[in-house]
Amino acid sequence: MGETRVDLQHLLEDLRDAYTGALEETILTEVVANALDSGAVHIGLFTNRSDSTLTILDDGRGMQRRELARYHDVAASSKARGEGIGSAGVGIKLGLLVSREVVTETRRGATHVATRWHLASRHRAPWKWITPPGLTDSRGTAVRLTLSNQLSPLLDPGYVEEAIRGHFAPLFDAAFDEFLGRKYPRGVSFRIDGQELARLHPGAAERAPISIRLGRRRTPSAAGFLERHTFLEAERQGLAISTFGKIIKRGWDWLGISPPTSHISGLIEVPDLAACLTLSKNDFIRTGTRGATYLAYRKAIQEVVSQQLAAWGNASGAEARPRVERLERDLERVLEDLADDFPLLQSLVDLANDIRSLSEFKRNTVDLLDRLRRTGHPLVLTINGKAELVVQDAGAYQALLDRVEAIEGIQRGLADVKAGRTRPARQVFARLRRKHGIPR
Ligand SMILES: Nc1ncnc2c1ncn2[C@@H]1O[C@H](COP(=O)(O)OP(=O)(O)O)[C@@H](O)[C@H]1O
Ligand SMILES: [Mg+2]
Repeated sequence: MGETRVDLQHLLEDLRDAYTGALEETILTEVVANALDSGAVHIGLFTNRSDSTLTILDDGRGMQRRELARYHDVAASSKARGEGIGSAGVGIKLGLLVSREVVTETRRGATHVATRWHLASRHRAPWKWITPPGLTDSRGTAVRLTLSNQLSPLLDPGYVEEAIRGHFAPLFDAAFDEFLGRKYPRGVSFRIDGQELARLHPGAAERAPISIRLGRRRTPSAAGFLERHTFLEAERQGLAISTFGKIIKRGWDWLGISPPTSHISGLIEVPDLAACLTLSKNDFIRTGTRGATYLAYRKAIQEVVSQQLAAWGNASGAEARPRVERLERDLERVLEDLADDFPLLQSLVDLANDIRSLSEFKRNTVDLLDRLRRTGHPLVLTINGKAELVVQDAGAYQALLDRVEAIEGIQRGLADVKAGRTRPARQVFARLRRKHGIPR
């Protein structure tokens, strides 16, 4: 009999908020990460709606009695940094937040033990030894969550499959077999409700392998690919980075590269970065020596990715665009100087400067807004070379409205004259004088 000795609920909720994804996905990835860290080759997931359970079974090294006891302590981990995907000792504990109980059964050598664990109150998460219910019949560990919510997505095999494929994509892609073979020499296979999850082979997309060698190492330190698609959903765009097969980040932002075309995706695996994971394990540390490792990889990845993008004709990279913008600004300045001496040039300069592409406007909003205010000229924005929008400073717009109103007034007057809706001025003045009592 034991008890977790921390203000749990609060701590767990803080932890939950530190993760970016949905809580259910985090729980799933943490339990699977534990199985992977334990050297499992086969990982089975079983959903059962009738008793609201999700069971995760692995054939890894299992736990000794003392280790299973410690498993219930928050922030207790048996792992050294960099050995696996977990090391902060916070993974499985999140499962308590969504479960009525968590049963863990493990076998290792002669040891065969099990516990039942639950969150009894904000401050108490008692656990006790139970007779092993028989979830495992050979070496390994089984974790069974009895979910508090019968509608939990963790009971939906489709959701479970999607989450696992998404978070552990490199394990399903033959392109990583050799590289990840150092960590998982016998491979890893997943079954959901008895059905093996098929592995993927490179699809129709055009794929360019990328690989990174740091220092004088003979073997690559990071490997992956970029893919060019004809169409790609927004959430799949950009480069995903994984460590030991677990994806940590996706997109272009983390890499600081923005390719102009949105149809590029990719995946790069960097085993060394397992040592640089933050506490919540969904980001990398940026300070100290671990931070330096991450930043060095990031820079190396930026370089190879920019090269590949350039080869594909998207010389966007990090620096290509700023240089063009600088050139445009310089040209503009020269033309403006010339226009002082040659007034006829002025209208030409204005015209050229008043037309911009929407994407340039988005990139350069601050400068262009400043220009709008300074000149009072509207800016015509083009999309694919066609004028689509006009943007104008609010003051200049009001001035324009006033002018339009005045012009409309005059036009109405002219139309009245034309249509004969007129009266002699003398008559009108006489009526006004009478109305307001103005003496002659
Ligand atoms: N499936 C498993 N197989 C073997 N050991 C496990 C398993 N799950 C958890 N453990 C043990 O319990 C400890 C705590 O797990 P966890 O809370 O997920 O923290 P972490 O993975 O960060 O160490 C692990 O360090 C490991 O020793
Ligand atoms: Mg863990």
